[in-house]
Amino acid sequence: MAGRLSFDGGADAYDRLVGRWSRLWVPSLVRAAALRPGDRVLDVAAGTGAATLAALQAVGRTGRVDAADISLPMLRVARAATACARMAAADAQALPYRDGVFDAGLCQLGLMFFPDLGQGLAEIHRVLRPGGRFAACVWAQAERVPFFGGLAEALSRQRPEQRAVFGLQFSLGEPDRLASALASAGFRDVRVARESRPVVFASFAEYIEPVAAGAGRLGHGYRELDDTGRAAADEHLRRLFAPFTRADGVIHTVAEMVVASAHT
Ligand SMILES: C[S@@+](CC[C@H](N)C(=O)[O-])C[C@H]1O[C@@H](n2cnc3c(N)ncnc32)[C@H](O)[C@@H]1O
Repeated sequence: MAGRLSFDGGADAYDRLVGRWSRLWVPSLVRAAALRPGDRVLDVAAGTGAATLAALQAVGRTGRVDAADISLPMLRVARAATACARMAAADAQALPYRDGVFDAGLCQLGLMFFPDLGQGLAEIHRVLRPGGRFAACVWAQAERVPFFGGLAEALSRQRPEQRAVFGLQFSLGEPDRLASALASAGFRDVRVARESRPVVFASFAEYIEPVAAGAGRLGHGYRELDDTGRAAADEHLRRLFAPFTRADGVIHTVAEMVVASAHT
């Protein structure tokens, strides 16, 4: 169970499947948190550190960035790119920081994995100073993220009993849901916006390589299938990608995230 629910196993492949695309929304996240030179910033569920790195650049030498994630292997990948950040292996639902010490918080693609979202948001709220800024982004609904939602559907067809686990990625994809979770945790001035980016793969082989290497939770699910299950999942994905595939085999899709900003 732990392996299926964690990002530990696929940390090295994560950026090749998800991180290379999710980093396209990082500038929006940094803008939504209005990061400034000198800020002390917390990146929650920092993973391989794409938002941590952008925060380091935004706050400059007078600022400070802390990165927290429950997965040590993910933080090890982050460490290579973000040597100046302080890292903590920590559950977002019990953050190891004093009250009100951060000017701003970020969380990219993390909120949907907290077993108790209210508790995680309350913790983030607690460690931000009064008037502090928080920005988060999550995948939109699965059908708006074909390269990833399609994979969740392909896996769910093979392992129906795990549909809820595979679908967790998209569980906050309805903007009102994210907005009301933030408001319930005490955040003010909550704003949410849908933002799309192009997601392009040179070939199906390029797409499936990090999946087969076990990237993230969905890659882990793919690796757990037997040969017949993997062939069926590939077939589902090839059919899904057919309308997006040009004559040269390049797959041109679009993916959407919901970007939220709020104040304490
Ligand atoms: C999809 S990755 C996102 C990583 C990074 N923020 C990014 O955008 O590339 C989700 C991250 O959330 C972390 N995570 C999941 N549950 C967590 C929790 N309860 N507390 C802290 N981190 C958690 C995972 O270990 C993983 O690194």
